[in-house]
Amino acid sequence: MTSLAPSPEIEPRAGDTPVAELRALRKCYYKPDGSVMVEALKGLDLVIHRGEYVAIMGSSGSGKSTLMNILGCLDRPTDGAYLLDGEDIGGMSDETLSVYRGRKIGFIFQAFNLITELTTDENVAVPLFYQNVPKRDRLTRAAEMLGLVGLGDRLEHRPRELSGGQQQRVAIARALVTRPVVLMADEPTGNLDSTTGKAILDLFDRLHADGMTILMVTHDDNVAKRCKRVVRLSDGLVESDVRR
Ligand SMILES: Nc1ncnc2c1ncn2[C@@H]1O[C@H](COP(=O)(O)OP(=O)(O)OP(=O)(O)O)[C@@H](O)[C@H]1O
Ligand SMILES: [Mg+2]
Repeated sequence: MTSLAPSPEIEPRAGDTPVAELRALRKCYYKPDGSVMVEALKGLDLVIHRGEYVAIMGSSGSGKSTLMNILGCLDRPTDGAYLLDGEDIGGMSDETLSVYRGRKIGFIFQAFNLITELTTDENVAVPLFYQNVPKRDRLTRAAEMLGLVGLGDRLEHRPRELSGGQQQRVAIARALVTRPVVLMADEPTGNLDSTTGKAILDLFDRLHADGMTILMVTHDDNVAKRCKRVVRLSDGLVESDVRR
């Protein structure tokens, strides 16, 4: 069985260190003149523990994508603290943060974001290039991960030769190949029909059962039902936070 344990080169953390901890987090978007256009997150507190399976819900404009982009280190908060696996990202340079992000987070986009010119295994191997893994090991690890998501027989295909669900599985393999501590996704089934979406969610359920921490934004109650915790946002704040 392919290991999903975090890379051995990453210093192990104490088992109870939260994967993500947000304290009084604010995010403003600004107008060109420097004045605040929108305060999208208004002082939000949230702690995500190892092994959790969390849905982030809320109406359109409530701040879900803004929150996910900050959690995924694609954007920085205006104010407040974000500790990712115990480290405060606030003091990190952009370069340090990008390396740290690459080690800790696997991120899945609604639109897959695969590179059209590359084959399936080359796509999955891309994050390992940035971690200076030798080329042969990159492709071996990519093939292992593609086997895990059920695409071991599609290594040579290009994205356009795959179905939507297969493309999303390639994106999931790419997110997992670095053995991150958390898998994050903004509407991962949003571009898929319901049957294909269900297959992706079955895969998430399996990853969760193997101990992966999963955090995803969804509009869909049927998607959220699978998660063990539902965090609902309203107007830039946590409105409710329910575990089951
Ligand atoms: N780049 C931006 N510049 C200015 N305002 C923005 C920007 N991105 C988002 N906003 C505003 O911030 C608020 C939160 O947006 P966000 O995209 O996080 O909502 P969401 O919950 O993901 O909505 P949806 O369900 O429609 O995807 C909204 O009022 C939105 O208009
Ligand atoms: Mg959104």
